[in-house]
Amino acid sequence: MLATLALVAIGPGRSHAQERPDRPPPRPMEDPDARRARIAMLRDIYAGPPADWPAPHVDEGVEWVELGFLPEPPHPPENPYSEAKAELGKMLFFDPRLSGSGQIACASCHDPDLGWADGRTTSFGHDRELLKRNAPTVQNTAFFPALFWDGRAGSLEEQAEAVLRNPQEMHSDEAIIARLVEIPAYQGAFAEAFESEGITLERASQAIATYERTLVGGRSRFDAFLKGNREALSDAAISGLDLFRREARCLNCHHGPNLSDGRFHDLGLSYYGRLFEDLGRYRVTEAPEDVGRFRTPSLRNIASTAPYMHNGLFELDGVLRMYDAGMATLRPREDQQDDPLFPTKSPLLRPLGLNAQDRDDLRAFLESLTEPKTRVRPPTLPGLHDRSAGP
Ligand code: HEC
Ligand code: HEC
Repeated sequence: MLATLALVAIGPGRSHAQERPDRPPPRPMEDPDARRARIAMLRDIYAGPPADWPAPHVDEGVEWVELGFLPEPPHPPENPYSEAKAELGKMLFFDPRLSGSGQIACASCHDPDLGWADGRTTSFGHDRELLKRNAPTVQNTAFFPALFWDGRAGSLEEQAEAVLRNPQEMHSDEAIIARLVEIPAYQGAFAEAFESEGITLERASQAIATYERTLVGGRSRFDAFLKGNREALSDAAISGLDLFRREARCLNCHHGPNLSDGRFHDLGLSYYGRLFEDLGRYRVTEAPEDVGRFRTPSLRNIASTAPYMHNGLFELDGVLRMYDAGMATLRPREDQQDDPLFPTKSPLLRPLGLNAQDRDDLRAFLESLTEPKTRVRPPTLPGLHDRSAGP
């Protein structure tokens, strides 16, 4: 009891520093006048062209790209954009008849009202089977070179096909997709989108991918600030932007317009040899150095897609505290001493010594990446919502 009181009196920062000598104590809190003056200066700097922003704190060898506007999403030549294809893709994305049970649509786990994710730690799939990973947003996925937390799909087309076929997710197959032929409106929609008759799983995946490439953000307060509205960011968000690029070192991995390097890193969250174990990228490459690595997610609209990380086990405050601590380091047990697969945390992570104000500021910056809420009206599904046809 006395010990607990003493800890509370010292505060969490000091007590951690005592437990772990490698962890710096939090920086002293700034006095309000100094803070105002510093942020006014930062606002002037960041309102200017990115070329004049202060150099970020990134380690040698990191090929970073400055934050900025999202470009137009690229459509691959083998699956070019057309409005008819995107419209078809939207219908398919919301249609549960693509699943084996007839009950699950892509939108069940990627819900536009929940930031195109599902708000759950991990999703329920076919037969309400609990999946192992958190459902990420599908917004801005057009910009990723590899999809899924472990990057196992090389394109949105391949990704959609994998989910459709996955027995734990949609549990679909060619026969189930072929049933859509019985719905005349789908026949017409496929023919228009692909300029020939035929309903196949491959075409369904292509149309869905085309639709997903239209789900692009870029209307956040941060974007408004970049466009020249210098009041679009609060003082806290300005300070957070500067921390993000410099002292908090986030830009080492979350960089470029989509705030992701598209690469794979081990943040020490693989739970190696324990209950929630997930080996991540290793399951795709089988390279020992990939154990525990996951693809850096985008941070756009991040405040709308809690909970966080591949296992969905964290809230935003927890994430920021863990980064501040340099993330947990897994220590090998006796029997793991010579284990060649024992994961190694990314050397880009280290204790930061942030204080509570810094973490609030970082959070304010992350919240400035929120997209305005737009309600997406689910499309009318051919043969399902045709009231004149049924009871
Ligand atoms: C049962 C829930 C569920 C359904 C249904 C579902 N998904 Fe997902 N989706 C997930 C989960 C969970 C992941 C992450 C899995 C992983 O990384 O291993 C994911 C990942 C993705 C990704 C990768 C995002 C990224 O950042 O790499 C895309 C794109 C996606 N889904 C699109 C779709 C499409 C299209 C459909 C319908 C054909 C669909 N999903 C159906 C749960 C679901
Ligand atoms: C070493 C590279 C690296 C650095 C540095 C880094 N991140 Fe990450 N970040 C990642 C990876 C990889 C993940 C996903 C890890 C996982 O799920 O196991 C992630 C996940 C996140 C998530 C959760 C996203 C989601 O959709 O679940 C947030 C929020 C986040 N990072 C914010 C930050 C902030 C803020 C900083 C700076 C304090 C930072 N990151 C620094 C690589 C990094």
